[in-house]
This record gives sequence, C-alpha cells and structure tokens, in this order.
Amino acid sequence: MDKSVVQNWINDHALTFYIETYGCQMNAHDSEKIAGILISLGCRRSDSKTQADLILFNTCCVRQNAENKIFGNVGKLKQLKGQNPRLIVGVCGCMMQQPGAAEKLSKTFPFVNLIFGTNNMDLLPQMLYSCLAEKERTISICEDRISQEELPMLRTPPPLAAVNIMQGCDNFCTYCIVPFVRGREHSRTMESILSEIKAIQKQGYREVMLLGQNVNSYGKGWEGPNFPALLDAVAQTGIERIRFMTSHPKDVSRELMEQIARHPNICKQLHLPVQSGSTEILRRMNRKYTREEYLGLIDQIRQIVPGIALSTDVMVGFPGETEKDFFETYTLLKEVGFDSAFTFNYSKRKGTKAAEFEEQVPIGTKTERIMRLIDLQSEITYRSNLAYVGRRENILVEGLSTRSKTNIYGRTDSGKMVNVEGSAALIGGFVTVEIIGAKKTFLQGRIVHANTPFTA
Ligand code: SAH
Ligand code: SF4
Ligand code: F3S
Repeated sequence: MDKSVVQNWINDHALTFYIETYGCQMNAHDSEKIAGILISLGCRRSDSKTQADLILFNTCCVRQNAENKIFGNVGKLKQLKGQNPRLIVGVCGCMMQQPGAAEKLSKTFPFVNLIFGTNNMDLLPQMLYSCLAEKERTISICEDRISQEELPMLRTPPPLAAVNIMQGCDNFCTYCIVPFVRGREHSRTMESILSEIKAIQKQGYREVMLLGQNVNSYGKGWEGPNFPALLDAVAQTGIERIRFMTSHPKDVSRELMEQIARHPNICKQLHLPVQSGSTEILRRMNRKYTREEYLGLIDQIRQIVPGIALSTDVMVGFPGETEKDFFETYTLLKEVGFDSAFTFNYSKRKGTKAAEFEEQVPIGTKTERIMRLIDLQSEITYRSNLAYVGRRENILVEGLSTRSKTNIYGRTDSGKMVNVEGSAALIGGFVTVEIIGAKKTFLQGRIVHANTPFTA
C-alpha cells in the first residue's frame, strides 16, 4: 500500500497520539522511533491520554511486576474507550513478543485494536491504516525479522540523545527473557552509527548514549570494528560526552578500558551488572565469569581509569540461592563500593531455563534479602556522594528541577545527578559547579561558571 494513502487519511482525521513506555532505555528509544514514524505520517503528539486518538503502550516483560502493571493500565482504558469509540488502543514491544501473550491480551481486552512486536515497528504505517481506515483489528508479531534501522525519530530535546548500536542478545542468561523477545544479536554498521551521531551533533545534542543489550559484543561474528574501535571512532566525532550501556563482564577487555582512559569525551563511568557475588549462582545463571574474575576486572579498570564511577545490577533470590550465596553478594557490594546499584528480586520468566529450576526462593526470603542489600547500598552511595563535597564538577544541564522552578539539574561526567540554582536559559549547556552538599540520591551544587566550552 502506498504510504501517501495512509498520510492522507491521517491528515484528514487530524490524528493525535500518546505513547506510554515501560522498561529499559532500548524501549524508550524504540518509542522515539515510533513517535518519529507517527509524526512523519502527519500525526500530532498529545500530552494527555484523555485527548489522544491513539494510545500506544510500549511494553516490557523483564519481570512479572512490569507485566502486571501494564495489564492494569491497559485495563483502565476500557472506560475511555467507552467515551470515545474512535480511540485506537495499541500495545507493542517486548511483552507482545512472548508466545501466547498477544492472544491473551486481545482476549482479556477486546477493545485493544492494534498489537505488534519488537521486530516490525517499521511496518506501523500499514498496520495503522488497516485498523483506522479498514476498521480491522490488527495483530502482527514477527519472529525472524529485523526492523529497519534508519527510521525517523522524535527525540527528547537536546542535550542528551540515545543511539542504537546493536539489537538483540545471544547470551541467554538463564533467568532472562530478553533473548527470547529481542531476538539474536545484530550490529549496526559503524558508518550508519557515525553518520547518526554527526547529524545529532548538528542539532545541538552534546551527549550520546550508545545503546545495546550487550554493547561489548558489538561487531562479533564479522570482520568489521569491535566495540573499542567503535568507541574510538565515536570519540573522534568530537561529541562532548559519550556513555554506553550495557556491558557484560565477560566481554570487557583491556582495550575497552584503555579507550575509556584515552578519550576525555568518553565519560569515566561504567555500568557493569554483576547479578550475584556467588560463583555457584553465577554458573547457574550462565554468566560465564566467577566472583574472582569480576573483582579482578574491577581492580583492573580502577588501575587503568583511576576514579572511574561504577554501577551495577544485582539480583536476589535466584533459584537455589542460599544464605551463604546471598552473603557473597552482600560482601561483594561492600568490597567494590559501587557508586550505585539497581537491585531486583528474581522473577520467574516462562520459557527461560531458570523457570524450570527447583528450589525457587520464597518471596519472604527475597524481600528480606533485598532490604538488606538496599540498606547497605544506600549507605555506600551516600558515602560516595559525600566524597564530592568541595569538588568542582562540569555539569551538562538537562532540565528544570521538578521540585523548584528556580533550580536546574544535570549530571557530572561520572553520572551523578546535581541540583543547582539556575535558570532555564542554561539548559543544554555546560556549567562548572562547586559541590556544596550531598544527599542520598543527588548532589547539591553552586554555579561557579556557566557555559564552559568543551576542551578535548
Ligand atoms: N542486557 C543487560 C540488561 C538486561 S535487563 C544486562 O545484561 O545487564 C536489566 C536487568 O534486569 C538485569 O541486569 C538483571 O539484573 C535484571 N533482570 C533480568 N531478568 C530478570 C529476572 N527474571 N528477574 C529479576 N531481574 C531480572
Ligand atoms: Fe538478559 Fe543476560 Fe542478555 Fe543481559 S546479557 S539481556 S541479562 S540474557
Ligand atoms: Fe528492555 Fe524490558 Fe524489553 S528491560 S529489552 S523493555 S523486556
């Protein structure tokens, strides 16, 4: 079908849309692409759900509680649909990619008109036309297909931009659903990544987040550049700040650490999910490293990039986790002293290996363990924040603080959030601040100098 037919229809009907996104940064970035496609078709974005003609849920299924929340929120739309029969309710993303999920959702909520997965969002114009003009309920989930990469995008305004460098994951950690819903690893060419970065630089973006489920395996299985080589090339574009996520410990090389050390515009920050401090649990998770190897990596990176900020993801209650295993996670957090850590209760995911493991840990034990970890980590995070007091830091101002309109916020090179008194005019630029206070989750600063030019 001709795209202009869809465009004409949408223009005639002045269609507005609202996207609600769940899950990780990959999903948030997919929503920017979906929004870009809708805008290119002539739709307008609506700030409110109640006024939109199309409400789209971009879903996550990494843990059960994400799924429950989505089901609840889609269910709430029944009333809205009753008031506005012309409303299109769509559900897309990871959750829809699980076997049987689309059927279950469409049965539970007959008012949902549009369902698609993670591999075919580029076909949205056709799907939209069939449910708008032809009034057909459209369900389209593809298994072996990669969505076209060069799609229009509606990004959040500068200064931060996300750029996808790869899709999918081949690691099959035994607890994780992502390889099933995001498919096999596929790297984008360096040329298209670099041209996207050069284009966003011209639009005023000053920080780029390179995204992938496992960025360190970028380029695996081809003759082209690996991740350190890509980072080197991205650094040479001169964009002022570069971050990336997520890194898998098994693929972090000395070459990568040296690239981080070499380039002033690669932020001195690394997110390195450990998941557990117990070698036995790591083996059963199929993580392919031991506690000692992980700690060795931390020592090495701290030698090569002194002062680097480190963060992690950690899980409690993996099947068979004993008190002793848990204690090894606890002591690992203590030993490393991460700047921050995301903590999760293990959640059983149908279709993964670990869902079949016996000895699932009772919820009470999980809760008790996660509380102990959270207490420990919040103390460590607070101490690492306190160490910033008195320092001068370069902040890239991201926006106005939600608490006070006379305050702005931004991050240090190391990724710490800083709140400063200042005006909206500073958004998008760099300011030098003196850190004058530390809270548990952010720092308080005072502007010393505004609009610091970047010097590489
Ligand atoms: N690709 C990234 C992120 C994957 S999802 C990585 O490898 O680190 C983000 C985090 O969710 C994971 O790091 C893990 O800690 C957590 N997670 C994944 N599956 C989970 C599950 N079944 N239960 C609880 N947490 C899970
Ligand atoms: Fe999931 Fe492991 Fe892949 Fe991360 S590396 S997405 S945790 S399977
Ligand atoms: Fe991300 Fe959730 Fe999908 S974590 S990849 S949105 S399952």
